[in-house]
Amino acid sequence: MTEQIYAKLKSKLGDVVPDVELRVKAELAAKINRLKEEKNAVILGHNYMEPALFHSIPDFTGDSLELCRKAAGTDKDIIVFCGVKFMAETAKILNPEKTVLIPSPKAGCSLAESITAQDVRQLREKYPGVPVVTYINTYADVKAESDICCTSGNAAKVVESLKTDQVIFLPDEYLARNTAAETGKRIIIPSRTPRPSRQTGAEQVTYELIGWHGRCEVHERFTVEEIKTIRRQFPDVVVLAHPECSREVVEEADFSGSTAAMIRYVEEVNAPRYLLLTECSMGDNIAAARPDKELLRLCSIRCPHMAEITLEDTLASLEKNRYLVELDEDIRRRALKPVERMIAIG
Ligand code: 13P
Ligand code: SF4
Repeated sequence: MTEQIYAKLKSKLGDVVPDVELRVKAELAAKINRLKEEKNAVILGHNYMEPALFHSIPDFTGDSLELCRKAAGTDKDIIVFCGVKFMAETAKILNPEKTVLIPSPKAGCSLAESITAQDVRQLREKYPGVPVVTYINTYADVKAESDICCTSGNAAKVVESLKTDQVIFLPDEYLARNTAAETGKRIIIPSRTPRPSRQTGAEQVTYELIGWHGRCEVHERFTVEEIKTIRRQFPDVVVLAHPECSREVVEEADFSGSTAAMIRYVEEVNAPRYLLLTECSMGDNIAAARPDKELLRLCSIRCPHMAEITLEDTLASLEKNRYLVELDEDIRRRALKPVERMIAIG
């Protein structure tokens, strides 16, 4: 098995990673894959995993929504989530009877940290009857206070599925602004100001997204100025921005979508070169799979939380059954509804 993995890694990464390193990674990956079989485990790998891990051990790779679906559909006894804590928690919400492991307890997320269950309860009091959409990048207790979840791949669809004039959309301010723009809605952060209709003078409720102040510490760092500078140097570059980037950055980009949508775009649309405004490893993974594509990235901007997940820790995770993702059963049950509602919408 080691030789097979080595050959695969060599074909994908041989131009940029020395053999000696590939051998070490292949050895680790082979051990992981053997243990995975023995223990009847499935490994889910987010698109941001580092290339050697991404191309060797996951049974499924994808964005948050795709991995959520895979977690919902697995018949394995153990789910090892090579991603961050909120993703592993979502797998546990969907699979209370299964063992869910995350290789590092440090893999957090600035968005998930930006809001508490108490914050959501207070917003509900302030806006009674207004449905609450929470981004999947939240912890289980926050999901438990919500009506429906969304990911970057389906935010607009989820918002449009709610036939109300107002929607509370938490906690990513930028995703909220981008979703408001995509759905043609106004965004406030946060107050409700019914305005008189120009024609009749009667009160008219403007459809509003009520947002929060969370931001992704990675995507908030990309700027319009950087895009303009890069366009001056490479006038034919096609710019792709994740919707966790600011509204201005998304407006300046040529395309915006979830990590999976960005990968599909690069696959399907021919361009001389692409600039990916997202965590850098994803570009490494595409470059390894598609050497014919020229990818520009700003690799000083990285997600420290995703980088916590390594092959070494994934092996230790399977060997030692660590780190177990456990949830309070009442919170889990309440969090299940919004996650299932989202999956049903697609
Ligand atoms: P995706 O759902 O697009 O994979 O995004 C997850 C994430 O954390 C992006 O920073
Ligand atoms: Fe969270 Fe941003 Fe890292 Fe994604 S890239 S896990 S949103 S901190």
